[in-house]
Amino acid sequence: MIIQSERISLKHLLTIEALTDQEVMGLIKRAQEFKNGAQWTPQNRQYFATNLFFENSTRTHKSFEVAEKKLGLDVIEFEASTSSVQKGETLYDTVLTMSALGVDIAVIRHGAENYYDELIQSKTIQCSIINGGDGSGQHPSQCLLDLMTIYEEFGYFENLKVAIVGDITHSRVAKSNMQMLKRLGAKVFFSGPKEWYDDAYEVYGHYLPLDELLDKVDVMMMLRVQHERHDGKESFSKEGYHQEYGLTIERAQKMQDHTIIMHPAPVNRDVELADSLVEGLQSRIVQQMGNGVFTRMAILEAILNGKA
Ligand code: CP
Repeated sequence: MIIQSERISLKHLLTIEALTDQEVMGLIKRAQEFKNGAQWTPQNRQYFATNLFFENSTRTHKSFEVAEKKLGLDVIEFEASTSSVQKGETLYDTVLTMSALGVDIAVIRHGAENYYDELIQSKTIQCSIINGGDGSGQHPSQCLLDLMTIYEEFGYFENLKVAIVGDITHSRVAKSNMQMLKRLGAKVFFSGPKEWYDDAYEVYGHYLPLDELLDKVDVMMMLRVQHERHDGKESFSKEGYHQEYGLTIERAQKMQDHTIIMHPAPVNRDVELADSLVEGLQSRIVQQMGNGVFTRMAILEAILNGKA
């Protein structure tokens, strides 16, 4: 696919599927330009952004903050633990308040799937919403940085073989990636515990045991085991999971030389993949984290274009 370089304008970024192929590829290209040193054209007025994280985050929260600062946005600090959320303020009222204060962009992570619906339907809330993750629903900015990392490596998506492995039902990263990878022409495969898999994903790809995928795929995308979304009744053995579903050293040795290992992080080392693979030659996990800043700059710029 040829990347178009036209200017992209967005009101919100809520799901990956709401983007056209052209917007996805344009955002990847713009992120690559930022990575290569492209400068941001200063705006003719002050813009404010805030990062409202109601679930824990290191990468998404801090890379959005770096991206905002690189673009010259004023970042309004917010900590749920010291805000009026502790007095019962709802998400709606927090965002309504930020909008009333003049905040232009709110990056939000929340445990409730589709939390953004009531925000974008509001006639009073004016700020743009960027979804930084909604429960097990969507993680569009992670998907875009994953696509950027894959595109940097291979330069195409058509017929690329991508395995998504692990705790799929609880993973918003998996949902966004399976949808857009399929749309862009990649061949998606799934693996991991059957109890964390749903036949509904068959429209995007096929389930196979991990050992049957090792020498077949170009991208081995491992997912974090999301203990915080489990009901706590399941017994879990780190070593048992690693041996049955994880990318062990022995399994990694059976992969093709060109296969790259990805993981959205945080990684449970020696669970989803062996500790030494995380920063190994075939890993692109550190690159993914770095690309998060440039991807989020491209997203923020597209939102600002929508306001211009
Ligand atoms: N990949 C990801 O979303 O990481 P954080 O939870 O640290 O933001």
